[in-house]
Amino acid sequence: MKILVCGGAGYIGSHTCVALAARGHEVVIFDNLSNGSEDAVQRVRKLSGRPLAFVEGDVRSLESLRMVLSDGVDAVIHFAALKSVSESCSEPLAYFDNNICGTIRLLQAMDGAGVRNLVFSSSATVYGDPQVVPIHEGAVLQVTNPYGRSKLVAEDLIRDLCGARKDFNATLLRYFNPVGAHPSGLIGEDPLGTPCNLMPYVSQVAVGRRPRLNVFGGDYSTPDGTGVRDYIHVMDLADAHVKAVEQLNSSSGCQAINLGTGHGVSVLELVRAFEQASGRDIPYTIVDRRPGDVAACWADPSKAFEVLGWKAKYGVRAMCEDAWRWQLANPNGYRRH
Ligand code: NAD
Ligand code: UFG
Repeated sequence: MKILVCGGAGYIGSHTCVALAARGHEVVIFDNLSNGSEDAVQRVRKLSGRPLAFVEGDVRSLESLRMVLSDGVDAVIHFAALKSVSESCSEPLAYFDNNICGTIRLLQAMDGAGVRNLVFSSSATVYGDPQVVPIHEGAVLQVTNPYGRSKLVAEDLIRDLCGARKDFNATLLRYFNPVGAHPSGLIGEDPLGTPCNLMPYVSQVAVGRRPRLNVFGGDYSTPDGTGVRDYIHVMDLADAHVKAVEQLNSSSGCQAINLGTGHGVSVLELVRAFEQASGRDIPYTIVDRRPGDVAACWADPSKAFEVLGWKAKYGVRAMCEDAWRWQLANPNGYRRH
């Protein structure tokens, strides 16, 4: 297939491009480099052994999208979004513009070009503060912040378009907590500034870029009092995207699918696993809870297995080892111009 990967220069997109190329698909990366980098694209090419096309452009530009979609694209994977929950609370309009308007433009461009297959990056954030864990796709959907609203609105827009165009197929992949890196150590997660997420923060403490970790809350009703999440290896996510996009032609309508391991891991369990993987101490202090955080959140991933034949292969140990290999080889992340 010829696949347009919007946001393919970013963290999950770059790993997915490598996996798509390994399956023989033709990949076109489309990214405005607001958070991705050309260095990542070069490394994707190196890992793939193929000269993958890269077009610098914005999903909010109908003209740029028309150009890349005009040339026989079979499917689109839409990763392009802003993704910080806290930033979305201070800059909601930027999130609505990028994530919602960007999705509308992409759908318009696909509709105009007759491209009928879409895989969309959604998030477990659409479940808000879950009433029940593990979380099933049929659980109540709620918004707890503007980032979450942008994902929920984008899901609804895609669902409505599938309702109106019977030949339009979409899979909404709801990721839990993506972590880890390609086992080569060549590509990985490279947050700009201070990491908001646990794993990149822990790896930067291990490599000496930050003195210690703040553990947000030690008094949750979880086994050790710290927050519990479903960490999922980015290589497993990449594999799920390949399966989802390959299956689109034989599916119909719009379906939402959780991508998680089905196992909850606490902050302190993850810290200990990272200490073992890296052989470094991770000093930490337990501080107040972070506003908006939930105690525990993990997936029921059974639908992914039923529909896509996918289940997670990697455990926390591999997630930490691969994140550490990437961090150690690239202590300052990608080259950015
Ligand atoms: P990322 O920031 O590394 O990648 C997103 C890429 O999209 C970046 O390369 C960025 O430059 C590009 N981009 C952003 N806005 C764009 C625009 N308007 N036009 C073109 N390109 C644009 O993020 P990621 O972690 O790889 O996340 C990918 C997707 O998965 C996002 O939609 C995110 O919301 C979703 N998601 C991520 C997580 C997570 O924890 N990483 C969890 C759940 C869902
Ligand atoms: N945590 C710390 N210290 C840190 C960072 C995080 O203790 O410096 C804790 C959090 O309190 C939480 C756990 O580590 O208990 C995981 O936090 P992350 O920030 O890594 O992940 P979240 O579960 O808060 O958020 C992630 C994505 C969001 C998405 C959400 C729901 O980053 O985009 O999952 O799917 F909305």
